[in-house]
Amino acid sequence: MCEDKPRGVTRRALVCTLACSTLAAPLVVWKQFSFMVAGSGGETTSKGCVMTTLPEPLGTGTCSVEQAVRERRTVRSFSAKMLQASQLSQLLWAAQGITEEGGFKRAAPSAGALFPMDVYAALGSDGVKGFAEGIYHYEPVQHAVSLDGKGDVRSRLARAALSQSWIAQAPVVLVITAEYDRITGKYGQRGVRYAMIEAGHIAQNIFLQARALGLAAGIVGAFVDEEVTRVLMIPDSHAPLVIMPVGFMI
Ligand SMILES: Cc1cc2nc3c(=O)[nH]c(=O)nc-3n(C[C@H](O)[C@H](O)[C@H](O)COP(=O)(O)O)c2cc1C
Repeated sequence: MCEDKPRGVTRRALVCTLACSTLAAPLVVWKQFSFMVAGSGGETTSKGCVMTTLPEPLGTGTCSVEQAVRERRTVRSFSAKMLQASQLSQLLWAAQGITEEGGFKRAAPSAGALFPMDVYAALGSDGVKGFAEGIYHYEPVQHAVSLDGKGDVRSRLARAALSQSWIAQAPVVLVITAEYDRITGKYGQRGVRYAMIEAGHIAQNIFLQARALGLAAGIVGAFVDEEVTRVLMIPDSHAPLVIMPVGFMI
């Protein structure tokens, strides 16, 4: 299921287009905001969902890997502060972004390079600047998100996770899912294990990227699978493995 394009993004796209054309802003500025223009351009997924291209991910940062590893912790309370689109972009890129120039390989390793994983982001109304509340699916090839469902489902996700209410506090709740058919064809039942291992890689990438951005993340494995699937309105074949609330520390 998919939904209309996010309204906030459209309005911003117009403002950005005007600003860029009249001020003849340099390319770097245009790149930073091009996700908004692309979002209004109406590019669609194979399911017909409108895609919003995310800001270009950065290849460098100010926090070392060592520092991010040392400081990573599971955080269970978040401030109400919104994330920037660039931060959502960076988190999704670290999770499943394509990192091979001209190729298809991703930020996390994948057995047989079969990539059976998907990442969804449940955003609250004050979740990410320029994005309406809803359920977004990350599209690695386009480095974009498609709005797959409307509404703020974070409280329902928290209830599905044995009422861990802190999940609903996070401006962004990422959910990592596996589609086992994409990997069991080659590896049989062992493919299920491989997908779970891959989910761990993705989760750690999200943890470290969050830390490097000055954000904090939590990880949740205690939830009722069927309820999470229902709340996110995702296909039954996408098995939820990990929930990761992300936001600013209080
Ligand atoms: C697979 C997995 C599932 C987890 N599930 C939950 C959970 O449902 N709720 C929760 O509060 N923490 C959960 N955690 C977080 C652990 O409690 C946490 O990682 C542990 O206490 C170590 O703390 P640290 O991550 O801050 O180093 C989970 C961690 C992992 C790896």
